[in-house]
Amino acid sequence: MNNSPIANYFDVPEEFIPYLAELFADFGELGTDPGIICQWMKAICTESPIRKVLDLGCGKGAVSIPLAVELGVDVYGVDAYRPFVESARIEAAKLNVAHRCCYELGNIYDVVKVATDYDLVMYLAVGNVLGSLSEIVAQIRQTVRDGGYMLIDDGFRTSESTIQFPHHEYYVPYEETIQQLTSCGDKIVREQVYSLPYTRAMNDRYNTWLHKRAAILRQQHREFNHVLDQLLERERQECKILETQMAMAMWLLQKPKYE
Ligand SMILES: C[S@@+](CC[C@H](N)C(=O)[O-])C[C@H]1O[C@@H](n2cnc3c(N)ncnc32)[C@H](O)[C@@H]1O
Repeated sequence: MNNSPIANYFDVPEEFIPYLAELFADFGELGTDPGIICQWMKAICTESPIRKVLDLGCGKGAVSIPLAVELGVDVYGVDAYRPFVESARIEAAKLNVAHRCCYELGNIYDVVKVATDYDLVMYLAVGNVLGSLSEIVAQIRQTVRDGGYMLIDDGFRTSESTIQFPHHEYYVPYEETIQQLTSCGDKIVREQVYSLPYTRAMNDRYNTWLHKRAAILRQQHREFNHVLDQLLERERQECKILETQMAMAMWLLQKPKYE
């Protein structure tokens, strides 16, 4: 295994890391649609104020920046890839919320050990960096106040047997997923299971962008042909798994008011 969290996460050699920014240049959101989250959080705000948001694996800030704009929340976002952090800062400045948004380079593994008292923590399309779903919840819930919220965008397995694909072995069937999510005593207050057409459309969009950028990179860096072949093949296999052995889903959990 590689030492860099980014080389591990994207499963690329360290020398390719600087080029990931170009490969993902067309992606604003890197997995999660901000629209539904803004809707959910606006509704929650009428019951319980949301002022401080922690965005773990924030990417380019595609979700937390709209929250800062629409709800006036203060955001602390952390990501291990510097170009994404820089994009998030630029985007926040463009939308006049730089004063509300602090994006930093860091490892979420370290951040969850020290962050406390957030009203909302988001763990969106980050996968198993913090382990299984029960391990993820156990760690991220420590960063929120009593009565605070946790947003997790991930999925569950619809196939009978374990998914034999890197970073996908931890997916379990729906019932077990819900058990894991609630294993610390938290309540699920919102749930969105994405339809297959939604997942397909998202995969198609992302694949078009990736293939276009990969073709440009190949012209400039023939030495990465093999890396790009592997990456696109992995992406193809992953999309097939998402469409045939899994359902993508998002959950909003609430920590009990008094622990
Ligand atoms: C699929 S993207 C999702 C980004 C964002 N949450 C969104 O929905 O647009 C996953 C992000 O997690 C980041 N990441 C992966 N491992 C990490 C780690 N150990 N610490 C911090 N960020 C990490 C990646 O750099 C990437 O930006």
